[in-house]
Amino acid sequence: AWRPDDDDDQRRGSSGPVRVRVPAKVNLHLGVGPLRRDGYHELNTVYHAISIYDELTARRGDTLTLTMEGEGAGELALDDSNLAIRAAHALAGYAGVLPHARLHLRKQIPLAGGLAGGSADAAAALVACDALWGTGLSRDELAGIAADLGSDVPFLIHGGTALGTGRGEAVSPVLARPTSWHWVVAVADGGLSTPAAYRELDRLRAAGTAGTPLGSTDGLLGALRQRDPRVLAGCLGNDLQDAALSMRPALADTLKAGEAAGALAGIVSGSGPTCVFLARDAADAQRIATEVAEAGVCRETRVAHGPVPGARVG
Ligand code: C5P
Repeated sequence: AWRPDDDDDQRRGSSGPVRVRVPAKVNLHLGVGPLRRDGYHELNTVYHAISIYDELTARRGDTLTLTMEGEGAGELALDDSNLAIRAAHALAGYAGVLPHARLHLRKQIPLAGGLAGGSADAAAALVACDALWGTGLSRDELAGIAADLGSDVPFLIHGGTALGTGRGEAVSPVLARPTSWHWVVAVADGGLSTPAAYRELDRLRAAGTAGTPLGSTDGLLGALRQRDPRVLAGCLGNDLQDAALSMRPALADTLKAGEAAGALAGIVSGSGPTCVFLARDAADAQRIATEVAEAGVCRETRVAHGPVPGARVG
């Protein structure tokens, strides 16, 4: 029903706090092509948003500030180098408004974990400030601003399961019949640097010791349509996994523990060091999570399901 407030909200934004929830991502297929002249690698990837969330609250303020609690609080810079702050500046510049907001982050996505936590926070800041300021941009417009902030920020605006090309910023949804996939996420101690992982892959490739590149996403896309976790398990792949294992050899033990616990498949997520395991169903995921945690090969395990929507108010 129409309410008199609706139009005002559109024009002036929100006077109360705006809360946005944003998921973590895994790459079901991460095909890394050659290094481009701009320093990025050409990607063929399938992104998948999973039910581990950061929450960003935006309130009216006289300046732009950021505070945080949860995963990695105290380790992350809260100044202009923070991707959420950069996102607020980018949106304000685009929309021609003052970048005034008090942002607060409750983080559950590990830092530098290969789950795109920083990118998720940038996506959340775009969606939250758009609502707070009443700038009323479309999701595609927000994704356009997002692309300048980081290669996987546009995906976190959209969420779901999506194909990523270019350097990962060109996103198109994968249309599949609704299916939930069940995952076990093994969070490592400490993070890995994404640029370092890409450099290590280039080094391994130059030395001829990297695995054969995955190439096309066709196999994975076909597997998603079959809705059978055993079929999907056979098609998961990550070209950055060799690099992550080379930088952090102990991850091989984490992957082995998941296998020993009966996971259908295990891969390093993105540039690592988080490992994700595919389970048959929710109960299987819970059992594997307990077993992998008991093996002492990671900081903690969590269960998650996907796909879930991208950054959303509420
Ligand atoms: O896009 P984003 O800033 O998140 O990327 C971080 C770094 O990861 C880049 O500076 C680059 O070193 C590496 N990268 C890459 N190829 C991509 C995406 C990221 O080499 N497609």
